[in-house]
Amino acid sequence: MTASSLLAAHGVLRGPVERSVVGPARALLLAGVRGRVLEVGAGTGANLAWYPSGVDHVDVCEPDPLRRRRLERRVAAGSWPFSVAVHAAAPEGPFLAASYDTVVSTFVLCSTPDPEATASALRRALAGGGRVAFLEHVRAGGPAGRVQALLSPRWERMAGGCHLDRPPTSALRSAGLVPIEQRWLRLPPPLVLAVAGQAVVRVRPSPTGPR
Ligand SMILES: C[S@@+](CC[C@H](N)C(=O)[O-])C[C@H]1O[C@@H](n2cnc3c(N)ncnc32)[C@H](O)[C@@H]1O
Repeated sequence: MTASSLLAAHGVLRGPVERSVVGPARALLLAGVRGRVLEVGAGTGANLAWYPSGVDHVDVCEPDPLRRRRLERRVAAGSWPFSVAVHAAAPEGPFLAASYDTVVSTFVLCSTPDPEATASALRRALAGGGRVAFLEHVRAGGPAGRVQALLSPRWERMAGGCHLDRPPTSALRSAGLVPIEQRWLRLPPPLVLAVAGQAVVRVRPSPTGPR
């Protein structure tokens, strides 16, 4: 695949595929979200329109200044049934740890320098009983996965640090999160496959067993 076709594939993902495949997956992912929400790597705010009315507040974080400016414009232009605050990084401080009912990560674990560290940060932000709602592309199996592994270094340079060949649910598991309610969706090459689901904090069995 040439550099221009890689870029074309990336462009397609923002247009028709966003409308016909990814948008509906965002809607399904976020349909049951309630209360306080933290969204990391929000990009230009593609998820905002899909939050249901049961949401009270969304903290949207986007480190990239260009995307954040577009995100701020989208937030300012919209009429939202919840309050929204835009941040460069996840709001820090012990007062915000363990304070979100849902933490949202869509197409982010492919791009962060250390996905396990990112997943641990998502987990720390969850209030008791909270969930991570995730939608991430994954390395495909078989020959398609081997092609993705070959393309990934070049793609990473062209697509803002995105890796084609990561297993994002492994990062969630390493952080003590258990993926549940998983659904798979097909994407155009070179992305091929994505997984959407919820992840809950793993409950360790008591060392003394049940009483
Ligand atoms: C492919 S975009 C996805 C944007 C949006 N979440 C969506 O679903 O369309 C990946 C985003 O992750 C952000 N990102 C990269 N590294 C990050 C990090 N360490 N922490 C938070 N966000 C990060 C990028 O700036 C970018 O906006």
